[in-house]
Amino acid sequence: PTEVMYHGLAVCWVLGDTLEAARLGSAAVVVDYEELPAIVGVRDAIAAASFQGAQPTVARGDVEAALVGAAHVFSGVTEMAGQEHFYLETHASVAVVDESGQVFVQSSTQHPTETQEVVAHVLGRASHEVTVQCLRMGGGFGGKEMQPHGYAAVAALGATLTGRPVRVRLTRQQDITMTGKRHGFHATWRVGFDDQGCLQALDVTLTADGGWSLDLSEPVLARALCHVDNAYFIPHFRAHGRIAQTHQTSSTAFRGFGGPQGMLVVEDVLGRCAPLLGVDATELRRRNLYTPGQATPYGQEVRHAERAGLTWDQVVADGRVRERLAEIEAFNAAHPHTKRGLAVTPVKFGIAFNFTAFNQAGALVHVYKDGSVLINHGGTEMGQGLHTKMIQVAATALGVPLDRVRLAPTRTDKVPNTSATAASSGADLNGGAVKDACEQILARLDGIPGDTWEERVGAAYLQRVQLWAAGFYRTEGLHWDPATMTGHPFKYFAYGAAAAEVEVDGFTGSYTTRRVDIVHDVGDSLSPLVDLGQIEGGFVQGTGWLTLEDLRWDDDGRLLTHAASTYKLPSLSEMPPELHVALLPHAHEDGVVHGSKAVGEPPLMLAFSVREALRQAAAAFGPPGTSVELASPATPEAVYWALEKARTTTEAAAR
Ligand code: MTE
Ligand code: MOS
Repeated sequence: PTEVMYHGLAVCWVLGDTLEAARLGSAAVVVDYEELPAIVGVRDAIAAASFQGAQPTVARGDVEAALVGAAHVFSGVTEMAGQEHFYLETHASVAVVDESGQVFVQSSTQHPTETQEVVAHVLGRASHEVTVQCLRMGGGFGGKEMQPHGYAAVAALGATLTGRPVRVRLTRQQDITMTGKRHGFHATWRVGFDDQGCLQALDVTLTADGGWSLDLSEPVLARALCHVDNAYFIPHFRAHGRIAQTHQTSSTAFRGFGGPQGMLVVEDVLGRCAPLLGVDATELRRRNLYTPGQATPYGQEVRHAERAGLTWDQVVADGRVRERLAEIEAFNAAHPHTKRGLAVTPVKFGIAFNFTAFNQAGALVHVYKDGSVLINHGGTEMGQGLHTKMIQVAATALGVPLDRVRLAPTRTDKVPNTSATAASSGADLNGGAVKDACEQILARLDGIPGDTWEERVGAAYLQRVQLWAAGFYRTEGLHWDPATMTGHPFKYFAYGAAAAEVEVDGFTGSYTTRRVDIVHDVGDSLSPLVDLGQIEGGFVQGTGWLTLEDLRWDDDGRLLTHAASTYKLPSLSEMPPELHVALLPHAHEDGVVHGSKAVGEPPLMLAFSVREALRQAAAAFGPPGTSVELASPATPEAVYWALEKARTTTEAAAR
């Protein structure tokens, strides 16, 4: 484009024999810019009515009538910042054109098929002339679902033009300046409760900060709208969504894909309203959890809704939450300048892509004559342990030891037309496809003699039995109507609950997380160690988003926090000294590979417990009944202003 849409948009690409030469070349480029006014931030965009894309609404019941009839009605605004992925490996691609003209690209991509399609499109070639491979990524977190394609295309174009291999790799500063982040959101809401504190109605307008282009903003918004209820039954409901257009990086997928932002709204509502209702926040949340038989606002029955209560009750029992709440009250009474807070929050997260067609996967399983097994599948590895799980699925299905199975890099010429490894569905989808391929091979081995696997495989070969198979899986029972925003978009829900305790210093707002207890539902875990790592990692990444990571732009739209020195990430020192993670027992999930459940994204939202604990601690600086508004991220500075406001609230004003 002739118009530069944000600070950091590439205006040209310079190739060089060496990195140094390319950098010197790009430094010699002179660009004549004419400065145009910029919209920076979602508030600016709302004021300027700068929107892009669809504006869908999820609705059920009669919100207006329910608000009129509600015993207690409150309203407010909730804002939350975005988040930088900070995957360790920045965007990177290598492209080679071979002597037949075939284009081969190795890309750090969560979505090899789409990378292939974009490369083919840019080169004006058909898909079968382009192969994209991904051995593994040094982290993706959603940031490599849509955004790697352009860099792969630049590498492929360079390789085509020069006939030489071309590598494109962003420096950390380029990556953080140029590429998309989690969507920040702005929300306005009205809520109604009955006399018992049961939610009657919620009316929300969500505005996603889309940045300069749509990217994945529409599906992110759809998932946000489908998660405003989190784990709570809200009979009358309306959530209207829109996407702001600004002059900043194009926001993109990030672990949770809008779900966390939708869920944060209802947690913020409950955290702020509990004191106004005169109900303990933990009690208020427990009272409103889904129970079996209820449906979400978009019309899907909440399968296994009892697990919302089961995970909650187990975390409350294991974490001795009631006793500790009493201990904290005593501690706070004795310490005027230091306060503790303890909060429990639930998670309910829908598993499957909202867009039904994406819920399919393929695999290719080869059994060689010596009995060794090589598997390919359509998913990508980014540290979440998918490859480990796929090897386990194949070994279990074939009945061979793990070391007989090897996994080859994900390639579009092995398994075509794949979906992004995203929506936490990698193991569900590709596991289904791997298992299908293995079962086909097993069926063909039926009746073949031999005492060992190797003997049977050898005998089968001599009998001219096909020893390799392509597997396929599609998630059954899904449908979604984007026009009415209703249907059955999810295969099932992942549940969890977390209890977090924090201690806040009244002079500075700085805080520590003292203890966290988590109970999380992963079905019958395919790989308990991998799942434990996902739960801990997701939780910590969530606390980073909610409490530390603070993206700042200047008024012209220049990102100021473009390095680890200015963008604070969670590190070992922020880990709670006590972190107890338990998997919900007896949690077999019917219809999913080996009864397991997706785990990649849902644990991120367990971090709400830390934010709500900070709110409790800040409130303890004020008189009883103080309702605390907390910025997100709840940095020490934000916590300080929240507790300072609580401290200066009079008892009369709190009531
Ligand atoms: N874990 C690690 N270590 N690195 C990652 O990049 N991405 C997360 C999650 N866990 C990620 C991760 C995201 S955004 C998703 S959608 C899932 O993993 C994707 O993998 P899965 O579908 O196999 O769970
Ligand atoms: Mo994850 S945000 O669905 O890549």
